[in-house]
Amino acid sequence: MNTWVTGATSGLGKSLALALAAQGHNVIASARNRIGLKGLEAISGNIATVDYDICDESNIDSLTERLSAISPRLDLIILNAGSCEYLDFPEPDWSATRRMMEVNFFGTLNCLRAALPLLRESSGQRPHIVTIASQVTAAPFPRAEAYGASKAALQYFFDSLRIDLATANIDVTVVNPGFVDTPLTRKNDFDMPFLMDVNEASKRILKKIEARPRNYSFPTRLSVLLSLSKIMPAFWQKMVSPGSADQPRRGIEK
Ligand SMILES: NC(=O)c1ccc[n+]([C@@H]2O[C@H](COP(=O)([O-])OP(=O)(O)OC[C@H]3O[C@@H](n4cnc5c(N)ncnc54)[C@H](OP(=O)(O)O)[C@@H]3O)[C@@H](O)[C@H]2O)c1
Repeated sequence: MNTWVTGATSGLGKSLALALAAQGHNVIASARNRIGLKGLEAISGNIATVDYDICDESNIDSLTERLSAISPRLDLIILNAGSCEYLDFPEPDWSATRRMMEVNFFGTLNCLRAALPLLRESSGQRPHIVTIASQVTAAPFPRAEAYGASKAALQYFFDSLRIDLATANIDVTVVNPGFVDTPLTRKNDFDMPFLMDVNEASKRILKKIEARPRNYSFPTRLSVLLSLSKIMPAFWQKMVSPGSADQPRRGIEK
């Protein structure tokens, strides 16, 4: 399998890239950090790298060329690169909203556009697109307006894309992780229920996507908790409001 993983120098993407290489995939790993990418090549002979800033819409064609120089076709892509910024009211940095959409939504689309020609070259099994959204969209959270909106846009876009790409025999899976222990969440200053070890999270994702589900949200316990926001919105708002004593406690899920 010829597989491309974006955001592979840290956290979930790094764990996914290394796990896929260990499974024998020919992995192309991408991110901006060239030293981090070189580190991956040193770890596994199944990993080649292409450095790319996903916000760079002007170089999509050359990215396709650079990817195809390593592999003329792609069978699986995992669009994972992303970042997270929160809005701090009453005086939020409104430009964070545009940054979140630029990286998490438009950045992911830039990668999709670069990969599509190579996915269409895939022979043998149906090519597969996996995008990493988030369970944050399942419930409103304080300060998460920009990050959540960027992931909600991603979910809708790829859920619709699935219909349009079905005619091209390309499958699309949207993955919605809960809280995963990575440099991204280590910056968080709030409780993260059912926080999961990163290798456990990538193991679950790789197992689940074998069946090519439309959507995969995990852990289930978090999905159930977040469903409270729909069933009892007033209670949910009270529970997640900053300083609320009702907030669920922290703990890494193994
Ligand atoms: N951790 C969680 O709890 C959690 C939960 C739900 C969803 N997610 C999603 O999972 C994905 C990975 O998150 P993570 O927690 O593993 O974060 P992370 O440890 O901060 O890793 C983010 C990765 O994305 C890359 N990246 C960021 N901006 C980029 C850009 N402009 N161009 C290219 N690469 C870029 C980074 O590499 P460089 O800096 O080298 O470019 C890095 O490899 C994100 O999409 C995140 O939203 C995470």
